[in-house]
Amino acid sequence: MRELKILVVVLFFTAVVYWGVEPFAHSQMHPHVAPADFAFKDLGTNDKKGNASKGAETFLSAGCTGCHGVASQGMPSPMDDAAASASFGVVPPDLSNAGAIYDKHFLSALIKDPTKALKVEHKFNETRPHPMIAFYGLGGDLDQEVADIVAYLQSIAPIAPLSDKQVFQDACGRCHDMKYDKAMSHSDKAALTAYMGTLPPDLSIMIRAKSDEYLSTFINNPQKQLAGTSMPRVGLTEKAQNQVISYMEKVGDRKKAEREDLGYKLIGYMVLFTLLAFAWKVKIWREVH
Ligand code: HEC
Ligand code: HEC
Repeated sequence: MRELKILVVVLFFTAVVYWGVEPFAHSQMHPHVAPADFAFKDLGTNDKKGNASKGAETFLSAGCTGCHGVASQGMPSPMDDAAASASFGVVPPDLSNAGAIYDKHFLSALIKDPTKALKVEHKFNETRPHPMIAFYGLGGDLDQEVADIVAYLQSIAPIAPLSDKQVFQDACGRCHDMKYDKAMSHSDKAALTAYMGTLPPDLSIMIRAKSDEYLSTFINNPQKQLAGTSMPRVGLTEKAQNQVISYMEKVGDRKKAEREDLGYKLIGYMVLFTLLAFAWKVKIWREVH
């Protein structure tokens, strides 16, 4: 009977720590933030139906290729990495996969107002313009022209699924290194530091410092987790964002699946061992009496 009482006391305090103290400490250290918004409601929606073949012309007239390459369409990047870094502070991403990885409402908003879509209004304004020039239209209906450009980007995006690494490269690789996978940013470090105000950290083991839960809201809206940060919002679709996170897990935490699997085995072993020990005790005492 005495053992049972001890067991109850131990279980009680374990439960208090597990369901009371730990969640409380967690809520203090990581205050709850609203989950990622993959509809990008703050940017409004563009309901115009885009025309991809018109968009191909609009895309060229809008001057996107003055800064971005579209390698899959035989349009190489207009500048080499050094010149692009010197002009913009960062090498603008190739747009071959943009239609597949970025949300279409985000793309529409980005084309019209990069500073707003990227949530960097605290850094850029009329006196210090964002390096990506806003598209003011070719004289027709602006929303229609933008929808056409987005439809074009979607039409040239590869049909075959992109690898997790490719999505990371497109979305994060212009700023962040991934040393453990030997993937380095092409942007010049000094120019990038001057542009961002700080050098973007290497992300090789970032997944261990920041949970996947943190990343899932951070990428979609960095300001929610790190108010005032210069990292722009990356307007990925939910699928593309999950690919980025799973790539970071693969590189930075290769043993995660193994470790979690081991956890269950260990608990199973402990339960079995406890039962055996108990049975053994009962047997011994029966013999003693
Ligand atoms: C004057 C140069 C310039 C022009 C013109 C330009 N961009 Fe950009 N674009 C940039 C730069 C620089 C970045 C990277 C900004 C950063 O990382 O802070 C960028 C980023 C992007 C991104 C990535 C956004 C993200 O969330 O990561 C997309 C998509 C994009 N541009 C599409 C376009 C399209 C479509 C056009 C034409 C309508 C266009 N750009 C015109 C310079 C330009
Ligand atoms: C235009 C450059 C740029 C792009 C693109 C970019 N980042 Fe960042 N990132 C930064 C900068 C700059 C910082 C440092 C922020 C700070 O200290 O305020 C940062 C910080 C981070 C951090 C650390 C956050 C923290 O709490 O300390 C993570 C994680 C991160 N980025 C992930 C990503 C991922 C994932 C992507 C792609 C989906 C990405 N970043 C795209 C510039 C960028």
